[in-house]
Amino acid sequence: MAATVISGKLLSQELRQALAAPIARLAVQGVRPGLTVILVGEDPASVSYVTGKEKDAREIGLNSETIRLPVSTSEEELLALITRLNADPAVHGLLVQLPLPPHIRSARVILAIDPAKDVDGFHPVSVGQLVLGGPGFLPCTPHGVLKMLQKTGVSLTGAEVVIVGRSNIVGKPLALLLMQAPYHCTVTVCHTKTKNLKAHTLAADIVIAAAGHPHTVTAEMIRPGAIVIDVGVNRVPDASKASGFALVGDTDYAGIAEKASFVTPVPGGVGPMTRAMLVENTVRAACLSTGIAFEE
Ligand code: GUN
Repeated sequence: MAATVISGKLLSQELRQALAAPIARLAVQGVRPGLTVILVGEDPASVSYVTGKEKDAREIGLNSETIRLPVSTSEEELLALITRLNADPAVHGLLVQLPLPPHIRSARVILAIDPAKDVDGFHPVSVGQLVLGGPGFLPCTPHGVLKMLQKTGVSLTGAEVVIVGRSNIVGKPLALLLMQAPYHCTVTVCHTKTKNLKAHTLAADIVIAAAGHPHTVTAEMIRPGAIVIDVGVNRVPDASKASGFALVGDTDYAGIAEKASFVTPVPGGVGPMTRAMLVENTVRAACLSTGIAFEE
């Protein structure tokens, strides 16, 4: 049976449209949510991500600014900029695109961001709240994946979830979120040292591929009827494209789409969801700083 495709493109549009109400409430108070993104250097993938974030934020009326800094920027210069933006009331959401050049310590940079503006959800305060199930900004990609799982309408309670990948940005926070209320999943996190990956994925109701490598999850590794979420965004050479590359996920999509119950495409899957959750976090940040309800 062919799987149902969960379109991140369509779902993210719905979620962004739902932000019109809190944005209008903020506008009545003269507040326009502001998102500032800092990009250091010119890594092509990062440039593309940042451009997408800016476009999405502007489309729903946010005040979106990208500060592009040369790769030679020092850690101290970056920290000074963050201190200035932390104090700027027009900036509700602030993020520094990763990865940073090797001479800049990302941990120090993330720690410098005001947790009230940490719309990436990467600050240790945000991560701590996530672990404890407390209030705080959820990291955008895991949050987007949760929205996609909810969209299937399938009950997640007690579901066996296998996450392939243990990154700080996706695998780790997603595991922590899925094991907690209201999801109540049984979560296994696999990684490069996992002995028999296929044995784990074959036993899973839900497989989430977040390894950062093409072909990590193949059709033979999936139980018929499983849900497969592909978080991967990999650039592979493709002479037929003007750019010279094609974007592929971490799964072998075609074979899996014949076996699974739900799949997510790449591109047009998790990527647009990440950006939608970023603009949602920015609107939430603006609401919190203004004392306006995000939801009514
Ligand atoms: N690099 C790859 N994904 C992300 C993200 O979600 N946020 C930031 N800041 N950098 C990234």
